[in-house]
Amino acid sequence: MLITDLLISPSCLAEALRDPRSAAGQAVERARAAGVRVWLATGALGAYRSAAPSAAVLAAFAAPCQWLSALSGDADPAADDPLAVLLSRGLARLGAGARLLGRREGDLAPEALLAATLDPQPVAFVDLAAQQDRIRPELERRLDAVLRHGHYIMGPEIAELEARLAAYVGVRHAISCASGTDSLEIAMRALGIGPGDEVITVPFTWISTAETIAQVGATPVFVDIEPATFNLDPARLAAAITPRTRAIMPVSLFGQMPDMAAISAIAGKIPVIEDGAQSFGATRHGRRSCGVSAIGSTSFFPAKPLGCYGDGGCLFSDDEALAARMRAIRTHGGEKRHHHPYIGMNGRLDTLQAAVLLAKLALWDDEVAARGRIGAHYTQLISQRASAVTPPALLAGNTHVYAQYTIRAADRDGLAARLKAQGIPTAVYYPKCLHQQPCFAHVGHGPFPESERASREVLSLPMHPLLTPGLQERIVAGLA
Ligand SMILES: Cc1ncc(COP(=O)(O)O)c(C=O)c1O
Repeated sequence: MLITDLLISPSCLAEALRDPRSAAGQAVERARAAGVRVWLATGALGAYRSAAPSAAVLAAFAAPCQWLSALSGDADPAADDPLAVLLSRGLARLGAGARLLGRREGDLAPEALLAATLDPQPVAFVDLAAQQDRIRPELERRLDAVLRHGHYIMGPEIAELEARLAAYVGVRHAISCASGTDSLEIAMRALGIGPGDEVITVPFTWISTAETIAQVGATPVFVDIEPATFNLDPARLAAAITPRTRAIMPVSLFGQMPDMAAISAIAGKIPVIEDGAQSFGATRHGRRSCGVSAIGSTSFFPAKPLGCYGDGGCLFSDDEALAARMRAIRTHGGEKRHHHPYIGMNGRLDTLQAAVLLAKLALWDDEVAARGRIGAHYTQLISQRASAVTPPALLAGNTHVYAQYTIRAADRDGLAARLKAQGIPTAVYYPKCLHQQPCFAHVGHGPFPESERASREVLSLPMHPLLTPGLQERIVAGLA
């Protein structure tokens, strides 16, 4: 039986609190040990209090539980048993793997749970649900505040978020955007890049990096990567610069920055835009990603290290004039209401997404530290136990946020299939280089041997800040 979530009825709570060795007490313990998320319903608090010998005993039981909020639609004052209605409506929201531990018909009785064989919890590639468990009250408070003030576009959360992100990155200006893709496009528009211009980037990245260069009418010029870090190889950069080069856009792929100082030195006066979509929180010689070049750009796509619950992104700059242009372009090129000096776009971040990000910032420092620790632990385990695969290298002077923990393996597809058979999800970022994409056939050039080899060998493993050492051992055992 697969149980992902267990909602506790007041009757089972009473039983478990009266005697932890009772069937209900043992059932809760067993569910917890199996990784099931245990819930109490806020709407049943009165009933729980009546069922508990004291408030302190209830609070102790509740401490490791999640509180399931009651929504307006859960209330049915005319029902014969409003509490049963509230619990069943709440349960329905928890999804197909959720059961109500109770003693009424249709409930999961404690004895039945104790007798069942519980399936292991599915392994998540990125576990956003576990992250949500850590911030639920603040998240709900923030979202509810937006629903109440109603400023869905450019509400006060946007300015609050931008101020916090700018301070975090260490620059004067943060400009939130509707996506990481939009932010790259805005950056190039603000630099006046257009038809006839060239922008240098890598062919081993997500499509957005080069797509946005083409969107502004410029031509992407690809430079191969350094195999150890998957990032732009500074040694190949100078040869790609021409009189038409208007920007250099290195990508901080998988969560670590390239040698930005070397790139900037070669760039000279040509502006550098860091595509830090995957590296928010990473540092190079103590300076944060997105804060070391003319413009830094990141993405808040949900699976990114700092992700919202939809699309989102942000631009960073210390340059007052550039920041003002980017801010204007983000909002239809307008500098003030009904005055549009530039052609812009509707590229704003939603206030609701800013609220999500603000709630997540409470965890952020912890999560960045955990990502570094988990990545290092993977590397140590792989080096000791899985000789057929190569762990990712950490460039000296860098911290890594491991947006992806990406290994190389000669038999990548065979390995992915073996892990899948063991219930371990993996992903290939990226199976095809951008110069091999049909949309870039006209600018393709190549070959780019290191990018092409990477696209044949890479495999990304489950990675998120709540990945346990035990699960990492299981994953690495699957690689051996
Ligand atoms: C390297 C890189 N650049 C740009 C983007 C675009 O970000 P978004 O999905 O927020 O548009 C992504 C997102 O996946 C990315 O990984």
